Amino acid sequence: MSKQADITLRHHVLLGTSMAYRETGQAEAPVALFLHGNPTSSYIWRNIMPLVAPVARCVAPDLIGFGQSGKPDIAYRFADQAHYLDALIDDLGINSAYLVAQDWGTALAFHLAARRPDFVRGLAFMEFIRPMPQWSDFHQQEMARETFRKLRTAGEGEAMVLDGNAFVERVLPGSILRKLSEAEMEAYRAPFKTRDSRRPTLALPRELPIAGEPADVWRALEAAHAALAASTYPKLLFVGEPGALVSPDFASRFVAGLHNAALIHLGPGLHYLQEDHPEAIGRSVAGWIAGIEAARGRPHRQAA
Ligand code: BEZ
Repeated sequence: MSKQADITLRHHVLLGTSMAYRETGQAEAPVALFLHGNPTSSYIWRNIMPLVAPVARCVAPDLIGFGQSGKPDIAYRFADQAHYLDALIDDLGINSAYLVAQDWGTALAFHLAARRPDFVRGLAFMEFIRPMPQWSDFHQQEMARETFRKLRTAGEGEAMVLDGNAFVERVLPGSILRKLSEAEMEAYRAPFKTRDSRRPTLALPRELPIAGEPADVWRALEAAHAALAASTYPKLLFVGEPGALVSPDFASRFVAGLHNAALIHLGPGLHYLQEDHPEAIGRSVAGWIAGIEAARGRPHRQAA
């Protein structure tokens, strides 16, 4: 087996707080920007980044309020996440990248791509967020829909998430097929030891654009998805069986409506596909980037 690249954890001061990010790979190569969702962090990419490192400069931020990033006193709405991510991208001098995203990371990626299409060299994504006209469009399981209805209900959501840390203790392990080790669970728990520190994990389920609400997120993601449908940059969608937000059937139909898009079936999986399929995702992303760069006339080292 080839030696895995080391991952460095860095901290960057910005907007009166700090953002953490993991970095590995080739300094001179195109950037692969890994965007996580709720309630995870760049840690979820730990077994994927080393596989992409031979062909890219891999950068994985912890979104504001998540992982080892700061926890300023903000509402942790979608627009806040986009604002802090934009600032980090600017400060790091990244002016183009492959976006590799899951869950809320996809909403941020679509939104970024809609505003800055020239930034995007390609988009690899999974378990993605889109405007969902009805509750039945959200999630494959009725029980999960019920949980998210409660999370969005004043009082109930606070009790579940702020008091009980439900997003980390229940939603996360309940949406991964394998059992996370105690060390892995501790890594996911570490940022959310206190009631106040869990606010970001409660804010995001309340931002999911379902049945038109919240109206501003709905509008932003409607525009972002229209831009995605019109875009021509390369796309790679990963899907699990049965998935959580995205089923194999839905994924096939979705990819058929996009330009320059391919679909990879990972096999059994729910929402956090990176924890069940890191090898398949990492190797596929590396091969995909290498192929695109070769076609652009900028070959990098082949994936290991
Ligand atoms: C979400 O944060 O959107 C989500 C988390 C777990 C399962 C499904 C969706």
